[in-house]
Amino acid sequence: MQLGSGRAPGKIILFGEHAVVYGRPALAAPVTQVAAEAVVEQGPRGAGLTVWAEDLGQQVAVRDAAADDPLAAVVRLTLAHLGLAEPDWRVTVRSTIPIASGMGSGAAVSAAIVRALADAANTQYPIPNLPLSPGAVSALVYEVEKLHHGAPSGVDNTVIAYEQPVYFVRGQPPQPFTIGRPFTLAIADSGIASPTRITVEDVRQAWEREPAHFDALFDQIADVVEAARDAIAVGEPDALGPLMDENHALLREMGVSCPELDALAAAARAAGALGAKLSGGGRGGNLIALVAPETMDWVVMALRKAGALHVIVTQVGA
Ligand code: MEV
Repeated sequence: MQLGSGRAPGKIILFGEHAVVYGRPALAAPVTQVAAEAVVEQGPRGAGLTVWAEDLGQQVAVRDAAADDPLAAVVRLTLAHLGLAEPDWRVTVRSTIPIASGMGSGAAVSAAIVRALADAANTQYPIPNLPLSPGAVSALVYEVEKLHHGAPSGVDNTVIAYEQPVYFVRGQPPQPFTIGRPFTLAIADSGIASPTRITVEDVRQAWEREPAHFDALFDQIADVVEAARDAIAVGEPDALGPLMDENHALLREMGVSCPELDALAAAARAAGALGAKLSGGGRGGNLIALVAPETMDWVVMALRKAGALHVIVTQVGA
């Protein structure tokens, strides 16, 4: 018998990744074409809570799992938040979000589990403050993100938990931003798995070696983010193209692009994209390209030809 369920979308960083770790702003948006879903069912009496993550091929018995196991950690944190002792539940998670590609698969799986547990608790016990607010979901997922990423900025859990485009500055409440006119992005998966933890750590080491240079790069990215926010608000998304190119060039200078992402960006631009940049941790994962309706098919085709594993077309602000 199903006791509860939860869902969370994927995400893309539109502008500002990496610099956001250092207090600069970022713009991020949910991608609802892909999602993680969790379902809670009653398990055998005395079995405790188990999580079955189909796509990861992982089955975790929470009572036996290590402290840093992310699936067990999200369950423990959520049960503690709800004030529940471990129930005999079986949680099944499925996700269509590509793993280690910069689309927030880990954070979305966590958010789906948090929501499913809260939903099940809501039907079984008299617990106040349910359903959980986006802020509460985000805070729980952030604790788990720290296990995956070390020192994440919090942008991924925020956009996934709030499920709306956000202007994000580390340590501040997220601000929704106005989208004057929707715009379309092609999201191309390079097929190269690139854990965010590693690129974030590499940027940290480079910043420690050359603080003035990297702070200047972060400041330039912050200027791009502010200009992009203004262009989006006044409904001039075409102005985003050159800003995406500029953001990509700055990320390249920071050492988080790679030849495959540069090739995808070049292919998208040559096919008529208005601009393109890597999105997320970099050195693999995703590239996003701004497309107009008349060039969309060409750009998607060019990205596939240039090696993209798959391409998702999404509208921001629709
Ligand atoms: C990853 O989606 C975004 C990064 O800026 C890391 C972070 O913000 O924690 C690379």
